[in-house]
Amino acid sequence: MEDLLQKLPQALLGWFSENKRDLPWRADREPYHIWVSEIMLQQTRVEAVKGYYSRFLAALPTVEALANADDDHLRKLWEGLGYYNRVRNMKKAAEVICGELGGAFPQTLEGLLRLPGVGSYTAGAIGSIAFELPAPAVDGNVLRVVSRLCADETPIDLPTYKKRVEAALQKVYPAGRCGDFTQSLMELGATVCLPNGKPKCAGCPCKTFCLGLQQGEPERLPIRLPKKSRRLEEKTVFVLSCDGCYAVQKREKTGLLASLWEFPNVPGRLELAEAINWAQPLSPAAPTGMVERQHIFTHVQWNMRCYYLSCREKSAQFTWVTPAQIAQEIALPTAFKMFWDILQAKENKV
Ligand code: ADE
Repeated sequence: MEDLLQKLPQALLGWFSENKRDLPWRADREPYHIWVSEIMLQQTRVEAVKGYYSRFLAALPTVEALANADDDHLRKLWEGLGYYNRVRNMKKAAEVICGELGGAFPQTLEGLLRLPGVGSYTAGAIGSIAFELPAPAVDGNVLRVVSRLCADETPIDLPTYKKRVEAALQKVYPAGRCGDFTQSLMELGATVCLPNGKPKCAGCPCKTFCLGLQQGEPERLPIRLPKKSRRLEEKTVFVLSCDGCYAVQKREKTGLLASLWEFPNVPGRLELAEAINWAQPLSPAAPTGMVERQHIFTHVQWNMRCYYLSCREKSAQFTWVTPAQIAQEIALPTAFKMFWDILQAKENKV
């Protein structure tokens, strides 16, 4: 592996200068900016992140602003990105930086790794891009690139494989160009060495020494361990309206989607009569709609049926909010927001 990786800096750095995408987080190397972008980019596509990144930094331009941010505001800024513990940990880390560390962003790998929510990938990305440390940032994209380059059949989800790749890459980091090297590997994975059997090998700067290509089937790599199946849960969700307001409630402080808002919901898939019966205390009229959708989390899949009910009474059990509050203040995770978007799309039709 080391022999092949040694060829990467020379092959990638020139190619990266010529071909890099113009992305908002490449405008400067401010550690706070790099950190925000790298946390957002974990498990979220570049196109989706662009808008969130600008909005987040406009609202919270400094580490101090993040450390002092109101939790509901923070959840609203993250609404739709998913994996909310990412932003919870960022706030905790910002508190550490502004408290214990006296406002100084850690500039060593060890210091970065001590921050909540910062693992080897994030520490490597910030360390190399913001501080020119020879620290690799190995995510699924980089593992795919390396496994193809080396025609390596080891399943990339084995933690020991990631450790091996990190150790091997670290040795080939080019002094003075560490940040560019990290980003060039990411860029190759994102634009050339594409997943799902679609590598664009003809335009690859590594085509002369890629063993996966030489062996004829680079798209067969990487190998993965068999996926664990997800637990299925059925839910009935209610979009309840009364006098132009809608019922929401806050989720538990722990567990999936902790402390976010949700539409009222119950386990199981209720038939219409059961749904109306459940809503009796609110004196519902006939439902104005019913839709079924699913939402997939890492370990669980929700199969949801949603009833839209217009009610004559508000119950104090719920918080009743206006559409403007839902747009501006209430952080509704995607699993619930999609039912709101369906309603908005219907109401905006002429
Ligand atoms: N994916 C993860 N980090 C990235 C970055 N800095 N630029 C582009 N894509 C990325």
